[in-house]
Amino acid sequence: MKRIIAAFALTLFCAGLAAAADDAVVVLPAKNGDVTFPHKKHKDMKEITCTACHETDKGGKIADLGKDWAHKTCKGCHTDKKKGPTKCNECHKK
Ligand code: HEC
Ligand code: HEC
Ligand code: HEC
Repeated sequence: MKRIIAAFALTLFCAGLAAAADDAVVVLPAKNGDVTFPHKKHKDMKEITCTACHETDKGGKIADLGKDWAHKTCKGCHTDKKKGPTKCNECHKK
């Protein structure tokens, strides 16, 4: 019985670690202050699909990620929706 509990606890622990590393937040490094991007929060928004940012619904690395892409995609959507940060220091935190 003890062994089963230990195995279960280990599974939970690993699942937690994987989730944290995978998705909850992604730090996008920038010289003028890194941007902490709440990935899970965006994935959970009903009105936003994966393809707002990714080429396919599977997601993955974004080849164009960088200043131009981010300001167009991230800031662009926040401006359109009048929700989410649009000022420099709301995204770039030193
Ligand atoms: C608002 C923008 C946005 C939305 C919406 C979004 N993602 Fe992402 N996602 C990102 C960014 C930014 C990264 C980091 C990309 C990179 O590092 O190249 C990322 C990374 C990922 C990764 C790769 C993680 C890694 O480290 O390899 C996966 C898988 C992923 N997203 C899946 C999804 C799925 C599935 C959805 C829809 C349910 C989704 N994403 C919705 C922005 C978004
Ligand atoms: C919605 C969030 C957001 C806002 C608002 C925003 N940025 Fe950014 N910015 C980003 C992201 C994300 C990146 C790309 C980071 C990466 O590629 O790792 C970026 C990249 C940059 C870079 C390139 C950094 C480097 O290391 O090459 C500069 C410079 C920059 N932003 C300046 C600004 C200025 C100035 C403003 C205000 C006028 C601003 N940003 C507003 C999210 C934002
Ligand atoms: C297609 C639309 C869309 C895109 C693309 C998008 N966002 Fe957002 N974002 C939102 C909305 C809507 C909110 C407001 C959520 C709320 O306040 O309920 C938000 C909120 C945020 C917040 C504040 C979260 C909080 O907890 O208050 C941050 C930070 C943010 N976005 C960063 C980014 C970055 C960085 C990118 C690009 C990698 C990005 N967003 C791309 C729609 C978008």
